[in-house]
Amino acid sequence: MPQASIPSPLFDPVSLPNGTVLKNRIVKSAMSDSLGDGRGNPTPAQIRLYRLWGEGGAAAAIVGEVQGDGLFPERPGNLVLAPDAPDVLVDRFRALARAGKDLALWLQLGHAGALAHPPLSAPAGPSALDLPGLSCRALTAGEIAALPEQFARTARQAQDLGFGGVQIHAAHGFLLSQFLSPLFNRRTDRYGGPIANRMRPLLEVVAAVRAATAPDFTVALKLNATDQLTGGLEARDALTVVGALSGSGLDLIDISGGTYFPGAPSASDRTTGGAYFRDFARAARTRTDIPLMLTGGIKTRAEALDCVTSGDTDLVGLARALVLDPDLPRHWQNDSSSDPVFPRFESPPEGGVTAWYTMALTALAEDRPLPAPDNLPSVMAAYEARDADRTHLWRARFGGAGPTGA
Ligand SMILES: Cc1cc2nc3c(=O)[nH]c(=O)nc-3n(C[C@H](O)[C@H](O)[C@H](O)COP(=O)(O)O)c2cc1C
Repeated sequence: MPQASIPSPLFDPVSLPNGTVLKNRIVKSAMSDSLGDGRGNPTPAQIRLYRLWGEGGAAAAIVGEVQGDGLFPERPGNLVLAPDAPDVLVDRFRALARAGKDLALWLQLGHAGALAHPPLSAPAGPSALDLPGLSCRALTAGEIAALPEQFARTARQAQDLGFGGVQIHAAHGFLLSQFLSPLFNRRTDRYGGPIANRMRPLLEVVAAVRAATAPDFTVALKLNATDQLTGGLEARDALTVVGALSGSGLDLIDISGGTYFPGAPSASDRTTGGAYFRDFARAARTRTDIPLMLTGGIKTRAEALDCVTSGDTDLVGLARALVLDPDLPRHWQNDSSSDPVFPRFESPPEGGVTAWYTMALTALAEDRPLPAPDNLPSVMAAYEARDADRTHLWRARFGGAGPTGA
């Protein structure tokens, strides 16, 4: 017998400024699922994964780290919508776009910049850096000026392929977040210094993506509340960015934080609970009318509900909880006690938790049991080995390690 659903504001629909109606308040947050074919195209397993999330009842799902070209990927499992369209497996992208029944599916537009995966790329960010674990050249002013059109072209391609929207990635220390962060951005020109300059590339990208897409296409942004590292982006400056986005035509701001700058904490590796950036969301409310999504650390139905009913956010973003239980929204709708059971990791090495969840995504997509949580080193080794194997596929399609010149 079908279970009766429990009435809850978590399952009230919400309208975005572009007219999109989301059926409830739960969004599958962007995850780089590493299920691309190594040549930038979706795989049947990946399409299956998004079908699972659609059946599980989330209102929307965001495909992590989709690149506009092959030059600055985060990992070789990323998807790529490159200008050389003949190599794009259009049917696979269209099948992915249709994967979720009643699910709004958005592509996260990425550019890893200084954190581009070195075996595939010559990393380049706002400023040249030579630090342990992070070495990159500086982008030229011309390369920076070209970014808005690059993002706009990719967004247009996403729209043409049937996706309902995009999320511009300006969080976690990838390129647009690098510009916001003094850790990465030491420029002295119009793109560096005060926050008014550091947010210039982001504002230009948002404007270009909005102008290039239809009014009913969703344009969302993922923004860091703080880098959580001394010398990085601080909440005060991030609030200035939120204020400056008013009138930009954005449909949603997804609030996150943390960075993959060496030695810093990342949201995907953190194991504590409690919505990490809720105070920031509350403050952001006073600066903008754009709907908000709050991502990071939400593990229970009670907490998700409280974030929404308090008015701190319109939507909650869930990543790891929806790996552990892709049917979680349906379960939460039918049974208020069905929270996921999170694995416990004893003293996980840096990157270990994220690697475990990445391999768990593969297991989910291939209908296999999730990996055991007690042997992170072997899970990490499998994760690295798979990416090493895919390196030659990436290089065969996109060429070597990208341009190194200034
Ligand atoms: C395996 C994995 C991959 C991720 N990849 C991305 C990504 O591509 N883009 C992104 O914005 N966040 C990414 N994240 C971060 C999540 O979207 C989210 O911000 C973070 O995990 C905290 O949310 P949670 O506590 O619900 O997991 C990833 C997280 C995990 C676990």
